[in-house]
Amino acid sequence: MTHPTADDRKRAAALKALDLIQPGQIVGLGTGSTAAHFVRALGEKVRAGLRITGVPTSAAAETLAVEAGIPLAGVDDVPHIDITIDGADEADRAFRLIKGGGAAHLREKIVAAASRRMIAIMDDSKLVACLGAFPLPVEIVPFAHRTTMRHIAAAAVASGCGGNFIRLRGGDAHPLITDNGNLVADLDCQSIPDPEALAAALSAIPGVVEHGLFIGLCSGLIVGTETGVEIVEPPAHGG
Ligand code: 5RP
Repeated sequence: MTHPTADDRKRAAALKALDLIQPGQIVGLGTGSTAAHFVRALGEKVRAGLRITGVPTSAAAETLAVEAGIPLAGVDDVPHIDITIDGADEADRAFRLIKGGGAAHLREKIVAAASRRMIAIMDDSKLVACLGAFPLPVEIVPFAHRTTMRHIAAAAVASGCGGNFIRLRGGDAHPLITDNGNLVADLDCQSIPDPEALAAALSAIPGVVEHGLFIGLCSGLIVGTETGVEIVEPPAHGG
């Protein structure tokens, strides 16, 4: 018996998320390889007659959605987004996420915040007890970015994180430029014992555009596993 690869598990989670999509809905389309499985599968349904409108979270997601034949609108062009399906770099069972491995977390967060529901899809390597092994992406403006990065590292220490190593994505010679014309600093925390405290500290730093901690935005996880999918939902009565 062959074991499903990480990509097989991502695809299984993405296909399960299709069950959540209803005709007529406005659907936020995430970025990354897991979300790409979802976008392609949703495109097949559209070609088979499903009527939905997609709202892409990045230039890459938009390109993919156009190729898949999904009709698109911008966030500002729709009254609300019914549901957003997006990937994640890490998630815990309190629905806190690290996102931004694809440097799209600013737009992803704007789309998630405009959505009635956000569901994260992933393979099971991403479901963790404590966030922070994946370096936290922080989008920053180019002006004085070294100073901003020092403040970010200090915020990690003050928030009790296990590490505070920070690097510019792409390096000084060829820094990655986001869809918004900014830079990304990756903050290696090792562990983030208090994600809410770190999120608040990072948001308070001038020069930080947006960090990749998603807190209070996601309401469910679909996790591809060796044997199928695990669905993680809030308790029925909120208790
Ligand atoms: C992009 C993201 C992605 O959703 C995240 O990096 C997961 O990517 P993948 O599905 O390729 O593992 O946050 O900014």
